[in-house]
Amino acid sequence: MAPPVRSVLPVVFLGCGGVGRHLLRHIVSCRPLHANQGVAIQVVGVADSSSLLVADDLHSNGLDDALLTDLCASPQARPYLPCSLEVVSGQCQIFNNPEARTKVIDTASVLGKTTGLVLVDCSATYDTVGVLKDAVDCGCCVVLANKKPLTCTYEDFEKLVSNFRRIRFESTVGAGLPVIASVSRIISSGDPISRIVGSLSGTLGYVMSELEDGKRFSEQYVRMCGYI
Ligand SMILES: NC(=O)c1ccc[n+]([C@@H]2O[C@H](COP(=O)([O-])OP(=O)(O)OC[C@H]3O[C@@H](n4cnc5c(N)ncnc54)[C@H](OP(=O)(O)O)[C@@H]3O)[C@@H](O)[C@H]2O)c1
Repeated sequence: MAPPVRSVLPVVFLGCGGVGRHLLRHIVSCRPLHANQGVAIQVVGVADSSSLLVADDLHSNGLDDALLTDLCASPQARPYLPCSLEVVSGQCQIFNNPEARTKVIDTASVLGKTTGLVLVDCSATYDTVGVLKDAVDCGCCVVLANKKPLTCTYEDFEKLVSNFRRIRFESTVGAGLPVIASVSRIISSGDPISRIVGSLSGTLGYVMSELEDGKRFSEQYVRMCGYI
């Protein structure tokens, strides 16, 4: 028998392209594992560059898995969220910009301090920095696949990392290799780091491996642009 749920984690996705959709699918497919760990991840909102799909009742169980699966199964490389209205059955609302941004902040202020709402940035833009900073002020946690918020102004960076326990960005380096966790552990144990050598870009690693396998660079370029 699964243990009781000890930890409920509401999550809002900023971005549901390649990475965002993979993560959504992964969350849905790992429900039994989470249940065994006493954890429930509730996806309460999913945003793209123009819209936000958000649960009607923020204190409910979030968007249901069938809806999330449909969203991820969109034939388009990037699902345009309003298309998902066809599968919405009164459990959520769609907001378009600029209301979408305001609704993300409202959601952060309702759930941030009480639940530690997690904003997961799977976009590839600097445009999320403002929302992320506001969310940090609301007590939210931030998880980044998007490296851009970490390379904005130093002031913004300091704000984002002001509560270091509330931000994670492991997948911004080395395609999710545990680089940051390993380095942090070494530093906090008091050991010095004298040199780091490696190919820390997952994208470059992928391209180089394919070239080693004899594929042409032009093929890699087309594949990475998502055209095939
Ligand atoms: N691909 C990898 O293996 C990999 C590995 C580690 C990290 N990353 C990083 O993960 C991020 C996502 O990569 P990806 O390949 O999934 O990119 P992608 O396919 O281009 O998807 C980006 C998503 O972000 C949305 N978006 C754009 N502006 C937004 C905004 N202001 N607010 C909310 N959503 C917004 C886009 O919506 P629209 O469709 O409406 O534009 C789209 O849904 C990138 O920063 C990338 O560097 C990627």
